[in-house]
Amino acid sequence: MGAAMTKLNLLVALALVFGFADKTLAEDAHAVKPPKQMKWSWDGPFGQFDRQQLQRGYQVYKEVCASCHSMHLVSFRNLSQPGGPEFSEAQMKAIAAGVQINTLDDKGEAFDDKGVALQRPGTAADRFPSPFSNELAARAANNNAYPPDLSVITKARPDGSNYVYSLLTGYSDPPAKFELLPGLYYNAHFPNHQIAMPQPLATDDQVTYAPNAGNPAATIDQMAKDVTAFLTWAGEPKMEERKQMGVKVIIFLVLLAALLYTAYRQLWKDVDH
Ligand code: HEC
Repeated sequence: MGAAMTKLNLLVALALVFGFADKTLAEDAHAVKPPKQMKWSWDGPFGQFDRQQLQRGYQVYKEVCASCHSMHLVSFRNLSQPGGPEFSEAQMKAIAAGVQINTLDDKGEAFDDKGVALQRPGTAADRFPSPFSNELAARAANNNAYPPDLSVITKARPDGSNYVYSLLTGYSDPPAKFELLPGLYYNAHFPNHQIAMPQPLATDDQVTYAPNAGNPAATIDQMAKDVTAFLTWAGEPKMEERKQMGVKVIIFLVLLAALLYTAYRQLWKDVDH
């Protein structure tokens, strides 16, 4: 009797295991595709950002992404600080002045008589604003999905830079038999493979790069790389400083080790073994 029960239990256990295994296999079709592993200029202990690339990346953010995504942790003045895109002071001020920021009038009113939000040109101290007045409005415009703030998105997702690049270049037609929900778009790098963000970078030359020497053609791939670089800088604006400090610390430690070793030799040189 006992042995029969054990056998039965074993059978049930096996059925469960294989049942689940089957389920996992079936779900694999929806499993997130891991991000493409890219080579970035800021990789490694000596890696730095490419200024031109960060400037192009800001342009892509401004002209494409900013119509849905805010970046509340970044101020315009950051655009001219060392370690970032390093726009000149004058360029940065012009960029800020070109953006409209919601404001209040003398009476503390946010809207005029017609219910239109009061706005003023941006200054160096303003942060990148949200294009929507609140979350409800943002969801209403985006099939009830909320476009997240992009200030630290590359830190908020595992393997963030590679993920953002892969997401931006990961749109395609759904495979046969894939049931795409209405209003969603197929993207192999997003959980469940469907995302509420329409492909933001969809055609080459969507953004016109200044014809500076060294500015590459604005292909979808290039724009995706550039905006990823910009978002990576925004997520860690002091990265270059941190790496430079790291190198200095290592040099200091090597010198200190040499000094200590010399002192040790000096102190013990007359002691017989
Ligand atoms: C038309 C509006 C719109 C534009 C333009 C847009 N996005 Fe989005 N984005 C969304 C929405 C909506 C979501 C939320 C998607 C969801 O949850 O299904 C989103 C989500 C994201 C996410 C988060 C994905 C995640 O893992 O949660 C990233 C990263 C992103 N967008 C980057 C960008 C970048 C970079 C650009 C510019 C090149 C851009 N978006 C342009 C609407 C937009």
